[in-house]
Amino acid sequence: MTDPFSPLSLQHGPNWSNRFMLAPLTNLQSHADGTLSEDEFHWLTKRAEGGFGAVSTCASHVRERGIGFPGQLGIWSDKHLDGLSRLADALNAAGTHSIVQLHHAGMRTPQDLIDAPPECPSDNEKHGAKALTTDEVERLKDDFIAAAKRADKAGFDGVELHGAHGYILSQFISPKINHRDDQYGGSLENRSRILFDLIEGVRAVCRADFSLGVRLSPERFGMQLGEMIEIVQRLFADQTIDYLDLSLWDTFKMPQEEAFQDKSLLEHFTSLERGAVRLGSAGQISTAADVRRALDAGLDFAILGRSGILHHDFPEKMRANPSFEPAALPVSRAHLQAEGLGPAFIDYMSSWDGFVASDGDAP
Ligand SMILES: Cc1cc2nc3c(=O)[nH]c(=O)nc-3n(C[C@H](O)[C@H](O)[C@H](O)COP(=O)(O)O)c2cc1C
Repeated sequence: MTDPFSPLSLQHGPNWSNRFMLAPLTNLQSHADGTLSEDEFHWLTKRAEGGFGAVSTCASHVRERGIGFPGQLGIWSDKHLDGLSRLADALNAAGTHSIVQLHHAGMRTPQDLIDAPPECPSDNEKHGAKALTTDEVERLKDDFIAAAKRADKAGFDGVELHGAHGYILSQFISPKINHRDDQYGGSLENRSRILFDLIEGVRAVCRADFSLGVRLSPERFGMQLGEMIEIVQRLFADQTIDYLDLSLWDTFKMPQEEAFQDKSLLEHFTSLERGAVRLGSAGQISTAADVRRALDAGLDFAILGRSGILHHDFPEKMRANPSFEPAALPVSRAHLQAEGLGPAFIDYMSSWDGFVASDGDAP
């Protein structure tokens, strides 16, 4: 069995001190112009100090018009560099592998946050989104690559491309959303072209020891599991990325598609030959026992979302107590405040069903 406290080496960038990654977590704490706030700095550096081997920022938009949330961290302009550099310095000093998640919300950009229709691979009536021209897709790629370069300049150890959850990169991959007839639409090769171009582009402009991860979610938003497996096979065959972050929402679930129910969703990926590409998964890895189960299932690392919100020092807690379980839900605002969440993040977590106790029923 993989020891959760053993280091993890990557093809590029510093080793992770252990097998725990803090998931990218939107927290709505940045300033309105996307610059880093004290609350966001505090929330993330506390996780690094709490022993996570890798810490990712929330989804950070690479283009002003690609914003997905109010109070989202921005990486679309050099004006974000000061805050990002300060964050990278502090994360690195705490000994974690520091990562920025690069994001564009595509058709999911809320219209009230931009004075224009959201951008999308194809026109989308439901979201009032407009298709990008071929030239605009090239500019979009430039913005992702410029953002990666900015993360490199700020001193982060690496970036992760957000190709999950129905945001712009998965909108390109989705045959349900992408109806383009240029080189970015049609065949799977064309629909995934932007992802592979970005991988090549980021590698070309960033320093040699800069890590590069990709997050994918193989279901929902029109994703076809068979196609996602093909994409992952290609990522593993290329050996260009350092790690794949699978966002499954439940790491141990069965696939939705009947044709693939011979094994768990995760096993469809752990069973592929992955060479030196590291594999992690997020989704209901909540207790110390879940972490061990995830690693036993063949993952190289475990990605923690809500348990990392509940306990800034989950890895340290698990080291001290191999049967560690997080605080029972709902938790009080005071608990989350003590764990380093600012008021905006606590308000956001109140919108997640059953997470934060409403006044009166605080435990
Ligand atoms: C509050 C919150 C914010 C999230 N923000 C992001 C995000 O910015 N980017 C992303 O890829 N996933 C995001 N996710 C998904 C998490 O990264 C993770 O995959 C998910 O929470 C499942 O892990 P868990 O069961 O350990 O919470 C978010 C989840 C939560 C609960």
